Amino acid sequence: MKTLVSPGAMQMGETAQVAEDRSWLEEVAETSQEARERAVLQALKKDHVALVRGLSAEAASELLLAVAQKCGLEDGLDLQTAFASSLGHRENVGRYYMTVNKRSDYQFVCPHSEGNSFSNFQLASFYCYENSTDGGETILFHTNQAASAWQTARERVNRAKVNGVLTPGQIRQMRASLRLNMPDDALAPDDEILSERVIDAQLSVFKALARPRQTYSVLLQRQLYGYWNSIESTDADSADEFRAMLQADGLLRLPAGSEPTSLLDDEHANRIRRFGSKYADLFSSKITHKLVAGDFVILNNVSWAHSVANWTPGSGQRQVVAAFA
Ligand SMILES: [Fe+2]
Repeated sequence: MKTLVSPGAMQMGETAQVAEDRSWLEEVAETSQEARERAVLQALKKDHVALVRGLSAEAASELLLAVAQKCGLEDGLDLQTAFASSLGHRENVGRYYMTVNKRSDYQFVCPHSEGNSFSNFQLASFYCYENSTDGGETILFHTNQAASAWQTARERVNRAKVNGVLTPGQIRQMRASLRLNMPDDALAPDDEILSERVIDAQLSVFKALARPRQTYSVLLQRQLYGYWNSIESTDADSADEFRAMLQADGLLRLPAGSEPTSLLDDEHANRIRRFGSKYADLFSSKITHKLVAGDFVILNNVSWAHSVANWTPGSGQRQVVAAFA
């Protein structure tokens, strides 16, 4: 049985508990594409996760594009597809979907919103070709906007220090080539510098840790905190929280004997230190859903984080593709 623990109520050593609440999951049963589009959009406007079952891959792509267009996000859909394939770690499947990152045996993926506060992807969508493994459940987490973690967590960001005043052209160029929004991304006194690169006498750029910022949610038309990959992947506590939660929910698969969390965690190499994140504080509820062939899921990528439980190698095949806009 799952129990709801109010934020801040957890004691040291207690298991991370986030209430399972399937009332946030809206199954769209409409059969015509137009009615489906309307129902999915209505669900997203309520910040619900929409699920459509039994779609072909073509129908899933068509529905994704239609929803992105209605939200004014179709440019983002094209951009992220081109961007992800240029990084080489994902492959395009069809027009908009990509394979998910490859992972090693028994690895899980901790909850995160795709990307970072700079890319600010608004929509996340998953489509399942096959999931015959003994696990690989998709777990979606609704972020708690009042979490204390927004004060204590840190995001890995780009920052710059500039001597003099930037012209509008230089600001555009820095946005395109350095992924910096000037002047907002000027290095601040409380940013923690990880590395520095001197471009010239006028400009230095930094990798830094910064306090999380709210970004704009197009679907909900307000500023929100997102639990971006660039926040989640810095915090060693996140992997321990996720492992504990999977274990408590009976979703953790382990090889004979046990396995250190470092080997289960696909972001282990990127974690910087313990920032003390607690899932009972960060998330107000969750939805656990094992995708099956033909399932199409779409959600707000700012207000919801996605994660994947692990599975026993060789127990089956898992082919799930993802798209973001
Ligand atoms: Fe992801």
